[in-house]
Amino acid sequence: MIDLSTHYLGLKLKNPLVPSASPLSKKLDDAKRLEDAGASALVMYSLFEEALRSEEAMLDRFLLDQSIGHAESAGFMPTPQDYRSSLDHYLEQIHALKSSLEIPVIASLNGVSLSGWVELGAELQQAGADALELNVYYVAGNIEQTGDEVEQRYLDLLKVLRTKVSLPIVMKLAPQFSSLPNFVLKLEEAGAQGVALFNRFFQPDINLEDLSIIDQLKLSNSSDSLLVMRWLAILHGRTRLTLAATGGVHTTDDALKMLLAGADVVHMASALLQHGSSRLTEILKGIEAWLEAREYESVSQLKGSLSQQHQKDPSVFARESYIRVLDSFSPPGGVWR
Ligand SMILES: Cc1cc2nc3c(=O)[nH]c(=O)nc-3n(C[C@H](O)[C@H](O)[C@H](O)COP(=O)(O)O)c2cc1C
Repeated sequence: MIDLSTHYLGLKLKNPLVPSASPLSKKLDDAKRLEDAGASALVMYSLFEEALRSEEAMLDRFLLDQSIGHAESAGFMPTPQDYRSSLDHYLEQIHALKSSLEIPVIASLNGVSLSGWVELGAELQQAGADALELNVYYVAGNIEQTGDEVEQRYLDLLKVLRTKVSLPIVMKLAPQFSSLPNFVLKLEEAGAQGVALFNRFFQPDINLEDLSIIDQLKLSNSSDSLLVMRWLAILHGRTRLTLAATGGVHTTDDALKMLLAGADVVHMASALLQHGSSRLTEILKGIEAWLEAREYESVSQLKGSLSQQHQKDPSVFARESYIRVLDSFSPPGGVWR
């Protein structure tokens, strides 16, 4: 019997497959289906501070209208006690997931203000989440802001949260940092327990018909996993933080590569949304069969065995491989002579 267990954020998980933040944690039935399919933990969809603040502002306006006697709003007459904000819904969902699932539930937070991150983080801890993932979706588009300042935002947030939240914290990072390994080291010093590589930044497109900007959500594919795989391979063994691979895992091969590179857990969203929970079971069985065929005894034996530290030629993950790849490329035959 192969030992598929892994350690992530101080939690012992029965296997490395974890559905990442997505709408699949919004319904108990879906979450239960994922657990039954073999998921070893569940990351919830994010709670967004901005959404909460705009609800609060609307409610304040509404109550003010009532008190000054606007007939239209007074007609609805909801009382503040009846009102349930997205925070209330989120906390209730943590309770519900915790009581119907056996696997750990990781809450996900996307804050804006420092006080918001801290207050909401404390609420999610209080509600019983097993860990907290910080979805810092920050597009560093301010020309005045230096790279150091961008990093400092993450670090300040983590340090302040640490004063109020004792749960394991995982930072979901953007792929664009000048020196990712050094930044990961700083996150470790600031009190994180893990990093999730990488947050998927949805890219706006241009509509050439009416020249408008299109907001769009495109699901990933397997080729997206290679960016993650390289950075896992570079980080494995160089940080004490646990590593989650998030992005482009659609098949058993994708998942195995992430583990070989050094992931402690492999997150999945797009593949589950596209193919259902059975895709998780297939990948789990596939990992087991692959390990068995090669006489591995456990996932731990596999983890990081092809990371940069274990390469005879560590340059395969670095610049030299770029030069080799360019030199060895030849265009498709018959197109260019
Ligand atoms: C429909 C959808 C909703 C998502 N919602 C969230 C979210 O609420 N919070 C978050 O941190 N990531 C969210 N993500 C990002 C995923 O958790 C994941 O990091 C990303 O999609 C890359 O993984 P994948 O290639 O397996 O899809 C969402 C992704 C999708 C496709």
